[in-house]
Amino acid sequence: MRLRSKFLLVAPVLGALAILSAQTPDAIAHKGAKGIVKERMDAMKSIGDNMKAIKKMLDGEQPFNADKVKKAAGVIKSHAGTTLTKLFPEGSMDKPTEATPKIWEDWEDFQASAMRLQAYAEVLEMTAGNPQGAAEASGLGAAIKASDITEDGWPTVAELNQLPPQAVFMAMGKTCKSCHESFRVKKDEEGHDGHKGH
Ligand code: HEC
Repeated sequence: MRLRSKFLLVAPVLGALAILSAQTPDAIAHKGAKGIVKERMDAMKSIGDNMKAIKKMLDGEQPFNADKVKKAAGVIKSHAGTTLTKLFPEGSMDKPTEATPKIWEDWEDFQASAMRLQAYAEVLEMTAGNPQGAAEASGLGAAIKASDITEDGWPTVAELNQLPPQAVFMAMGKTCKSCHESFRVKKDEEGHDGHKGH
């Protein structure tokens, strides 16, 4: 199956997951944040923590527990979509933000990415208990249809529904990575603007 091979064989996708295990500098970058910048950093932190919790179960580091996966995916979903984009009012660039002004230049892409994360998290929430991924996703699917099936190869909700939780998780990880690559400049440990290569 086309999608299965795209997700299960392509190594770069795994790179998307690497960001989940290298978050230490964030705690430092996060320091001193106030107001809406702090709010979105906290939301992202929660998204990251929940992704890590799911990853541990999928990796077998912790026993797989469908209810825990569902709960974690639900938390990620609750932080994504418009809840996420509302935390990025135009020009909110107070230190120590890692957001880039490109967010407001490419607002539609940014928004699509936030919606995609929400839709994918919902798929995981609904299919976690079903390794066959047969569950139907609800309304959110419609929200991502228009902008998501790009040459980039973002799977649709209907496609993801056919895949096991591991693949859905990878698609979520790819969404984090792509948004960060476009819209976030990672600060280094010293706290000044980092220009880390990818
Ligand atoms: C729609 C774009 C977008 C998506 C999708 C997204 N992020 Fe982010 N993320 C950002 C931006 C922008 C920042 C920087 C925010 C700031 O510093 O003001 C950020 C920051 C972070 C941070 C650092 C928070 C801190 O304490 O400074 C973590 C951790 C993080 N994201 C994890 C994730 C994970 C894990 C996912 C996927 C499940 C994800 N993000 C999906 C845009 C996104």
